[in-house]
Amino acid sequence: GDLPLDLFAAIEALKQELNAVILAHYYQEPDIQDIADFIGDSLQLAKAAADTNADVIVFAGVHFMAETAKILNPDKMVLLPDLNAGCSLADSCPTEAFAAFKAAHPNHLVVSYINCSADIKAMSDIICTSSNAVKIVQQIPIDQPIIFAPDRNLGRYVIEKTGRDLVLWEGSCVVHETFSEKKIVQLKIAHPEAEAIAHPECETSVLRHANFIGSTAALLKYCEQSPSQEFIVATEPGIIHQMQKQAPYKHFIPAPPLNNCACNECPFMRLNTLEKLYSAMKNRSPEITLPENIRMAALRPIQRMLEMSV
Ligand code: 13P
Ligand code: SF4
Repeated sequence: GDLPLDLFAAIEALKQELNAVILAHYYQEPDIQDIADFIGDSLQLAKAAADTNADVIVFAGVHFMAETAKILNPDKMVLLPDLNAGCSLADSCPTEAFAAFKAAHPNHLVVSYINCSADIKAMSDIICTSSNAVKIVQQIPIDQPIIFAPDRNLGRYVIEKTGRDLVLWEGSCVVHETFSEKKIVQLKIAHPEAEAIAHPECETSVLRHANFIGSTAALLKYCEQSPSQEFIVATEPGIIHQMQKQAPYKHFIPAPPLNNCACNECPFMRLNTLEKLYSAMKNRSPEITLPENIRMAALRPIQRMLEMSV
């Protein structure tokens, strides 16, 4: 269809017209981050969605994030610029297989990473994100057996940090799996002053070389506060836009993928574009909808997370 010449101005106008708020994840393309009302990691975005007074939430992120916003706001319209913006981690945990896994581990509490479908959330006791997973598991009584799904890398990291024995679902993220230990070591040798920082979704072989491990928001804060001038960044490179904005004179090197065919950008996050964001607002579509019984069941573990992470 026809696109206005000044997309930024057109989106601003639609924002007023709809009384909309644009929430964007750090992995979105820079233009989307620049037009967003709020940028954050998945926990900050869930909190922003829980707190907003807007009538329409335009979610510039992936499906499970927009779905979480809808679970928290059944009466608001939640728009996602591209409905195909999924997540390999969420896809790695299909509903029926997970129901069988849960049945095979009776008496276990289910802690699920927010990167999962509403169906999986509905089968969970507590949701967590990469920024509060350790804190949440630490609050669970020591003799309580726990299933942790769907990310095995974050799960292993939580096991290491808490000393707890978690039953892990074997899911992983396509982006964080592509980082190469060898290339990070080579980069560290070439840049001896640089600090390596990594998201806990990375493989253990990569995390072992990190000077700091944290969620996207924690990585951003670390880069601002550290006296270092150079960082090797092992997470989706969209975050570097904010790192560079808050510290223009520091140098950020995106960690390279395993082979040159692979890309370290999240193929799902990057389906959203400024053009699709504009069209979604103009057409009030694609909209996120959910059956009420699933929404109610998925809300409970999200609320527990919000209570446990204040
Ligand atoms: P954050 O919790 O750091 O926002 O991570 C979300 C995500 O999708 C990482 O791949
Ligand atoms: Fe999912 Fe990985 Fe993309 Fe995050 S970076 S949305 S975990 S596929």
